Amino acid sequence: MTIATAPSASPALETLVRRDREVWEACAPSYEDRIVHGHPDVQAYLGFEDDLIDRLLIYLVRDCGRRVRLHDVGCGSGRLHLRYGRQLAFGGEERTEPALAAGLESISGVDFSSRMLDLARRKLVAAGLEPLLGSRLQLEEGSAFDLPALGADPLPVVVTLCNTLGVMQGPTGAGRLFAALRRAVGAGGIALVSCYQREAVEGYALGNYESTLDVSGQPRWLTPASFATSAYRQVPRHYKRAYDPSPGIEVDVFDRSGRLVQGGHVLTRDAKLTRDAIRTGHIRTHSDYESRWYSFRRLDSWIAEHWSGMQTHHVRGAALDALRGGPAQVAFLDGSGLLAGLLRRHGHTRGGGRRCRRVG
Ligand SMILES: C[S@@+](CC[C@H](N)C(=O)[O-])C[C@H]1O[C@@H](n2cnc3c(N)ncnc32)[C@H](O)[C@@H]1O
Repeated sequence: MTIATAPSASPALETLVRRDREVWEACAPSYEDRIVHGHPDVQAYLGFEDDLIDRLLIYLVRDCGRRVRLHDVGCGSGRLHLRYGRQLAFGGEERTEPALAAGLESISGVDFSSRMLDLARRKLVAAGLEPLLGSRLQLEEGSAFDLPALGADPLPVVVTLCNTLGVMQGPTGAGRLFAALRRAVGAGGIALVSCYQREAVEGYALGNYESTLDVSGQPRWLTPASFATSAYRQVPRHYKRAYDPSPGIEVDVFDRSGRLVQGGHVLTRDAKLTRDAIRTGHIRTHSDYESRWYSFRRLDSWIAEHWSGMQTHHVRGAALDALRGGPAQVAFLDGSGLLAGLLRRHGHTRGGGRRCRRVG
């Protein structure tokens, strides 16, 4: 399949899209296993996002009386499809939220990795949600930069989660995503971008990437790089926690046939390369994987450039969830000003906007 970027896409962006698509095709199963269902800090971050989206949807449906359509850009292995598909299928049963069962119309999503989407489909089928696939649960293989206009009713809520912004082909891709979200939601819809912030690299990112190096490759700031090639697999002996400041990590090294080549191999932080990662927020490894943790100000500049003339909110994750949101920032495009009441409830007072009936 050819992934189309918009006609005006620069060749550089197209090259990055091709490269990144291969990266995600290659790492899909281990990403699912070691990161989404593995690393405790990633799980905490995903829990923060899940709860935020729950509150947002319940607020829109129950308090604002809207019917909602959820669209997940870079939906990967279908985290939201599974979570909210259960609400659609089993609404009214124990542990479902009646408001969601009543007002959530559909969950759609787009991703350029067919292997990620296969994982999603398999999970949905295993959860008994196959009858909804293709109707109220949709998965599309395609580009995040070519989102269709989603109309006004049901209210489109378009989300990009789990630092997908930071893996979306560098700053050019990030700008394109902001513009695509604006086109998708039109004048009245809602878009939400949840991503890590550069300010959290030192305290949070270093440990995370070190202990998931068998998925995304050995971070460049760790030395030596003797086994940092595709001929070997380096498996950390334990999950290094995000806030662990220790300067190294121990890994077991396996060759391609799975034979242990070296146990307890020690990788240590190089001071200059570590400082560079902290300063730039550019996470690079010895594979083609790249992630960017953009600063709060950087997001402000994309919001101003691509969402001008619209009501917007930009909130540090800690203000929304002090326990789990610390490394995050969330940008909201709030076409009809519906979210001000919800954010005010969370102590975010800037900006005007409407208040829905059960809030305040
Ligand atoms: C960090 S994962 C997040 C997956 C999912 N949103 C979650 O929260 O679990 C990023 C996803 O973005 C997808 N992706 C990256 N660049 C893309 C692009 N230009 N178009 C479509 N999907 C893209 C990758 O394939 C991957 O599944």
